[in-house]
Amino acid sequence: MLLLRTDPVAPAYDVINKAVEVLRRGGIVAAPTETVYGLFTHAQSDEGCLKVFKAKGRPPDNPLIVHVDSLEMAETVGHVPKDVAEVLRQVWPGPITVVIKSRGVVSPCVTAGLDTVAVRAPAHPIPQAIIRELGAPIAGPSANKAGRPSPTTAAHVIEDLDGEVDVVIDGGPTFFGVESTIIDVTKKPPLLLRPGPFTVEELERFFGPIEVPPVARGLAEADVALVPGMKYRHYAPNTPLIIVHFDLREAVETARRRGLRVAVLCALGRCAEADAVIHMGDEMYEVAKNLYKSLRDLDRLGVDVGVVAALEERGLGLTIMNRLRKAAGHREAYNLEGLLRYL
Ligand code: TXA
Ligand code: MG
Repeated sequence: MLLLRTDPVAPAYDVINKAVEVLRRGGIVAAPTETVYGLFTHAQSDEGCLKVFKAKGRPPDNPLIVHVDSLEMAETVGHVPKDVAEVLRQVWPGPITVVIKSRGVVSPCVTAGLDTVAVRAPAHPIPQAIIRELGAPIAGPSANKAGRPSPTTAAHVIEDLDGEVDVVIDGGPTFFGVESTIIDVTKKPPLLLRPGPFTVEELERFFGPIEVPPVARGLAEADVALVPGMKYRHYAPNTPLIIVHFDLREAVETARRRGLRVAVLCALGRCAEADAVIHMGDEMYEVAKNLYKSLRDLDRLGVDVGVVAALEERGLGLTIMNRLRKAAGHREAYNLEGLLRYL
């Protein structure tokens, strides 16, 4: 495995060229995007795609996102409806992925055999340069082992995938820290599959009303037909995590009285004294950015349980709650009795 460092704003040519060479011969490359680190293959390479699934330990029915450098390239991959193209001209490049009808040109391994394809144009100079130099789209999921929190630094990638990737490009910590917003525009109204940095409120300004199913809030497990990958466990630390909808201090004290060592993940000033405290941030963007690092840190503390106060599901709060629910394996306590069930 080759580890290459480069400036995320002005990536070095030799680093980009090395990545392109590896992708051309069916290899796989981990690199930052503005959301999280991705594990990339040439989108037309069956061999590279199989390596991605193997390295991640990802179930084969969970398709990858195809990353392009322009709307024109997206149109070679799938059918972009006219009204959607108009929106994408305004919001790309950026953390928004659209599910459209596939043209069947990428590897069937990438789309998991579906007749739709998820496409996005990342707003990060490293993947942008790779796609441009390769002259073709690259496909990839987040560069973590399946079920683990997504990586927001190269160190997280190496923690999960050391020795299983040909090249890791270290371009520093990622900007948003949570994965892109995914919206299925083959549906009317458009259906939110995964909330992300681009919020529902912003989406509605461009697309008009959109549907937010329970799965997008992280509440229900997805129906296989609706969103293939989302039935799987995600983002989970090994330490049990509980989302608390009542007084955080009371929750912590109750758990400690039972002899448990407790860590609190503090967000937006909602904190309590405990055996350990992880500060995620006082501002929504900061909390999103630190979320996965905090979940990884939780496992290093050697505590019995982590608790976090529920956030209001508006704006980025919806995105963060979606990830927290999955990380918590849906352990959510609305009152003391609810909490006691998990202790
Ligand atoms: O920000 C991101 O989106 C990052 C970076 C690397 O771009 N990527 C990422 O990929 O989060 P991944 O594989 O962890 O999540 C992709 C999700 C999966 O849950 C999958 O189910 C969904 O996209 N997806 C892909 N193709 C789809 C399709 N045709 N229909 C519905 N969902 C699809
Ligand atoms: Mg992922």
